[in-house]
Amino acid sequence: AASLPSGYTLRALQKGDYEKGFLDCLRVLTTVGEITLEQWNERYDWMNTSGKGAYYLLVITNEVEKVVATGALIVERKFIHNLGKAGHIEDIAVAKDQQGKKLGLKMIQALDFIAEHTGCYKAILDCSEANEGFYIKCGFKRAGLEMAHYY
Ligand code: ACO
Repeated sequence: AASLPSGYTLRALQKGDYEKGFLDCLRVLTTVGEITLEQWNERYDWMNTSGKGAYYLLVITNEVEKVVATGALIVERKFIHNLGKAGHIEDIAVAKDQQGKKLGLKMIQALDFIAEHTGCYKAILDCSEANEGFYIKCGFKRAGLEMAHYY
């Protein structure tokens, strides 16, 4: 597999990423809102489930340590399939001016690797028709149908 551009790093989300453009990167995907540092810290601590390994949030930073891509894997523990685990890939975003450099692909490969190595029997995600081609290039295939109830 090709490597990241020179000076770019793929790593776990850190608390300090609040100051490094993490939320702006997510704004490429959808509405984020104005999140204060206090709110950020509280949610970060909640997700950082002290070694229980439910939330894996990754970022790619550029040569000046700005967050240019992000993605999440949530490892869901089940009773079915012999106490199986299902991986949910969520909130993939690559900064507009950084798209097309395979950062999205690297992000999915990293989340997929974690899913497999934490014992997930599958990794699933929802996407728009417009992104289907991207996920096919990442090795995913169409399965099922999303149903939603918005509140
Ligand atoms: N349709 C078809 N093919 C695509 C698309 C697309 N929308 N986007 C990328 N590709 C192809 C690329 O051409 C490339 O193909 P190649 O290997 O033949 O050259 C391959 O997929 C890998 O592309 P990357 O360069 O890794 O894509 P990028 O870094 O731009 O990331 C992403 C793709 C994540 C969709 C990005 O454009 C983005 O952040 N978009 C806005 C937010 C968004 O839609 N996120 C996904 C929501 S779904 C979810 O979160 C589960």
